[in-house]
Amino acid sequence: MSHTIAVIKGDGIGPEITAATLKVLDALDCGLSYDFVDAGETALGEHGSLLPQPTLDAIARHKVALKGPLTTPIGDGFTSINVELRRRFDLYANVRPALSVPGTRARYEGIDIITVRENTEGAYGSEGQVLSPDGQSAQSLIRVSRRGSERISRYAFELARRLGRKRVTVVHKANIMKTTSGLFLNVAREVAGEFPDIEMVEMIVDNTCMQLVLDPEQFDVIVTTNLFGDVISDLCAGLVGGLGLAPGANIGADAAIFEAVHGSAPDIAGKGVANPCALILAAGMMLDHLGLPEQGDRIRRAVRETITAGDRLTRDLGGTADTVSFTQALIERL
Ligand SMILES: NC(=O)c1ccc[n+]([C@@H]2O[C@H](COP(=O)([O-])OP(=O)(O)OC[C@H]3O[C@@H](n4cnc5c(N)ncnc54)[C@H](O)[C@@H]3O)[C@@H](O)[C@H]2O)c1
Repeated sequence: MSHTIAVIKGDGIGPEITAATLKVLDALDCGLSYDFVDAGETALGEHGSLLPQPTLDAIARHKVALKGPLTTPIGDGFTSINVELRRRFDLYANVRPALSVPGTRARYEGIDIITVRENTEGAYGSEGQVLSPDGQSAQSLIRVSRRGSERISRYAFELARRLGRKRVTVVHKANIMKTTSGLFLNVAREVAGEFPDIEMVEMIVDNTCMQLVLDPEQFDVIVTTNLFGDVISDLCAGLVGGLGLAPGANIGADAAIFEAVHGSAPDIAGKGVANPCALILAAGMMLDHLGLPEQGDRIRRAVRETITAGDRLTRDLGGTADTVSFTQALIERL
């Protein structure tokens, strides 16, 4: 079956790691074609908008997008493009796997944690932000809904069941944030009742951070609200060697966007030294989503084997190879 996906090359190292990722996808020969559209700084320069309408139309039409990292210009009047994309397409589930890869300089081996982060509401929603005229106080609104909590909890438990996972840890702060985090926890408990085959563990967010550092192997799938998920998923990425290996998927009912968790890395842009693994692994998640899990597995295996072999690693992984030769080594292992 053939699929067309929207491709946003992105800013900074985006074009370099996107080119590498498309080479890998082409080598798999899985019938994908690409509709290239712009967003971010590149789009602002060429189309006068960070998120041009043809880009939104292409994502709506193809329902799947692969996105390089985007630079949101600093300054008033620019909201984060990533937050805007999540809002526009109601991409409520942010799925971030953290998987140990032998050969990386990580603190732990044997980690395999998937963080499922609510992506559309909560403290990260930045609603109602007000700074008092005298600059002495600030406030913002935290909105958590039953609908939002239910659909993210159900997504996490269904994902756990589909992947043969055994445990979902619901991370919250309901002891203090009794209404917002309390509602999320209560709804998660209700949803957990529909999945007797999956163990549900409740854990307060601060303890979760400590437990992740002390004993990360106890975690399997984590589900949590927006801001906690943002922090915890980076912590998990750190446990397995950093952001260079961290893919992410933003999933909604009508569209899905796959990306690297890291940013546009302006300090190394154009030098040809970026590690393309995170976006390549995100493309693997995209293939799973498109109903091509065998090809997704081939990508994950090739990434693992290339890093473990260690002969052509990029600089962030301790090697001296450039993006192109690392990608070539990976393609040889597909
Ligand atoms: N999803 C996204 O589009 C996204 C996410 C985060 C940040 N950003 C944007 O990216 C820009 C830069 O942000 P930042 O510097 O805080 O974070 P960053 O992730 O771009 O870079 C942090 C550090 O990690 C390194 N790095 C990142 N990705 C790498 C890779 N693939 N290979 C090798 N090294 C890599 C960089 O060189 C840098 O030293 C900002 O404009 C920010 O808004 C975008």
